[in-house]
Amino acid sequence: MAIQVVTTEQSTLFTIRTKHTTYQMKADEYGVLLHLWYGASVEGDMSYLLDYPDVGFSGNLYEAENRRTYSLNTLPLEYATEGVGDFRIPAVAATHADGSNALDLRYQSYNILKGKYAIAGLPAVYADEDEAETLEIVLKDTATDLQVTLRYGVLPELDMLTRCVSIQNLGTTPITLTKAASFCLDLPYGKWEWMHFHGRHAMERNLERTPLGHGTICFGSRRGTSSHQYNPAVILAEHGATEDSGACYGMLMVYSGNFLCEAEKDQFEQTRLLMGLNEELFSYPLAAGETFTVPEVILSYSANGLSELSQQYHKCIRDHVCRSKYVHESRPVLINSWEAAYFDFTGDTIVDLAKEAASLGIDMVVMDDGWFGKRNDDNSSLGDWQVNEQKLGGSLAQLIERVHEQGVKFGIWIEPEMVNEDSDLYRAHPDWAIQIPGREGSLCRNQYVLDLTRKEVRDYAYESVASILRSANIEYVKWDMNRQLSDIGSYGLPADRQGELYHRYVLAVYEMQERLVTEFPHLLLENCSGGGARFDPGMLYYSPQIWCSDDTDAVERLKIQESTAMIYPLSTMGAHVSDCPNHTVGRVTPFETRGHVALAGTFGYELDITKIPEEDRQMIPKQVAMYHKYNDLVRSGDYYRIASYQENHYFDCYEVVSKDKSEALVTFVQVINRPNYKSRRITLKGLDPQKNYCLEGEDTVYAGDTLMYAGILIQNPWGDFQSKLLHFVEKK
Ligand code: GLA
Repeated sequence: MAIQVVTTEQSTLFTIRTKHTTYQMKADEYGVLLHLWYGASVEGDMSYLLDYPDVGFSGNLYEAENRRTYSLNTLPLEYATEGVGDFRIPAVAATHADGSNALDLRYQSYNILKGKYAIAGLPAVYADEDEAETLEIVLKDTATDLQVTLRYGVLPELDMLTRCVSIQNLGTTPITLTKAASFCLDLPYGKWEWMHFHGRHAMERNLERTPLGHGTICFGSRRGTSSHQYNPAVILAEHGATEDSGACYGMLMVYSGNFLCEAEKDQFEQTRLLMGLNEELFSYPLAAGETFTVPEVILSYSANGLSELSQQYHKCIRDHVCRSKYVHESRPVLINSWEAAYFDFTGDTIVDLAKEAASLGIDMVVMDDGWFGKRNDDNSSLGDWQVNEQKLGGSLAQLIERVHEQGVKFGIWIEPEMVNEDSDLYRAHPDWAIQIPGREGSLCRNQYVLDLTRKEVRDYAYESVASILRSANIEYVKWDMNRQLSDIGSYGLPADRQGELYHRYVLAVYEMQERLVTEFPHLLLENCSGGGARFDPGMLYYSPQIWCSDDTDAVERLKIQESTAMIYPLSTMGAHVSDCPNHTVGRVTPFETRGHVALAGTFGYELDITKIPEEDRQMIPKQVAMYHKYNDLVRSGDYYRIASYQENHYFDCYEVVSKDKSEALVTFVQVINRPNYKSRRITLKGLDPQKNYCLEGEDTVYAGDTLMYAGILIQNPWGDFQSKLLHFVEKK
């Protein structure tokens, strides 16, 4: 049993165990749910670590009477509230019918269920009945009928824990929720650094690590999507933790909209961490009997550094978040028309790409933006999903037939959540766009976001995609989303419910994607939002891959992909070989290096293969063969960072090791060469110390422990941006 509950007259002790971790809490003599422990496996009741100092200006619970050492402001709390004596950041806040804001949650009951809970309408970790357990703890406000259910999903073998919260109004008067976190984690001891991912368009998920000082710090999104700017993931690492040592906690929100992550270090160096819905512009009236469920957060802990933590997330996302049948399969190698032609193509261009693709071993051609309405630039036609037959030289079905005749598959781009001002759809239904009545909505890329919270709009948008897919044999869809939400207003919601729009929008996107994957179970779906603005586990519940970034430069991608892989498995990262000088940064890198870097993702091409230099073109069949040779290993192996260009500014090196440790692939990229210097020494990771290995094609035998402790030398290649793949195979 992963969950144990011990009840005495005084208290109820909850202990959750995974293979290497323990999580513990206690409902004490006052019914306050205290957090006792989350970390490495421990035995017994951890209440002995609770400290009860008499601290000035930290008030006491009414029932504690003269016990001035009992304060909500000093104790570690499992789900902190506001207004009743804890002055730290609250996890939940609500306004009652009388205008007051206090919540005093006390323990009521618990329930243990087999399997992992699911959340209606929201993506969440899934597991078989025998792989997981669920603990529910019910708390209730002392003065009102507001009830809070804390849910814990436990996947013991994976060392993963999920948390989500349902808030229910059991009273007769309305309550307005103004803040709702998925979890609260109080760590009374330790010196922590937090690592999170900031960025911008074409430069997503830069990793930043900073010590937590006193006060509150936060990051999050107010853009309606999880955003390029901040990813809904955070790692709390013990001061000095490295790839291979030190305690670290991960928190990852399964959500694709506005989120907020906050940390507070208090007067006693205690740390509180919260992650949940962004409170700004969030207000959710709960009528009598209504329930609101906060999306879930996936927690994990490693006592052995960052690599192990990353691997735990990779496994969890691959096996328990992504549901697509393609998640454990090699994806088709595709050529996408975007960087090859942008809007400047005809049906013949697509067929020419297909013809060339077939001769080079590429499996699929994807027609990107520009095939519908009168869209020859990004100023018009979103919403008018009628095929531009003049541009394509025939119907979509005819074009697809021509592509199939070349022996390649066909995929298509679509952006169903949007409408251009210059579109028939907007002219017919201006109120279908998200905007505040009486104000001009701000434009971005000349487009508005459709108000998908309205059923008729959602149905229209869904049918736009579905009818295209029903009309012909389309095996792949790139679902894009190229602006974020602002001017928040809906013609479909009453004035007092406008604060629900952001969240309802995300629920609507999930509903549409659920319909899509249900109606088209064989479709390979790739999510995208101006590159990687919605690279989050919520979207991965529907698609096995997400376009990682609009920056396809190999050197930039080293950084983006490395930081992304802190949490997300390589199998989820859309990565292509593109043209040079690179269209985003103007850098020129060797074709071979571009291939090696794209190998760490789903692999494909994004350039005009009919026009590239002959020597590059000739390399493509070898690259495709390389992808097929290594993809099983890359997709499912254990990933290790060996050297980071972000840290050393010269070179990058990462490794993927097969589960049975019989082979390992090392990718080495020398970003900047140095004159008159020694070779690089690389020490491998994750091998079997007892096994012997050879570099494929060579005879020298290395013991696993030797490769891991002593390593190998890689001589400096000549020039910048040079790369090498080293494939180690077991020598029996
Ligand atoms: C976004 C995507 C690109 C491309 C364009 C098309 O920016 O990230 O890959 O599809 O839209 O407009």
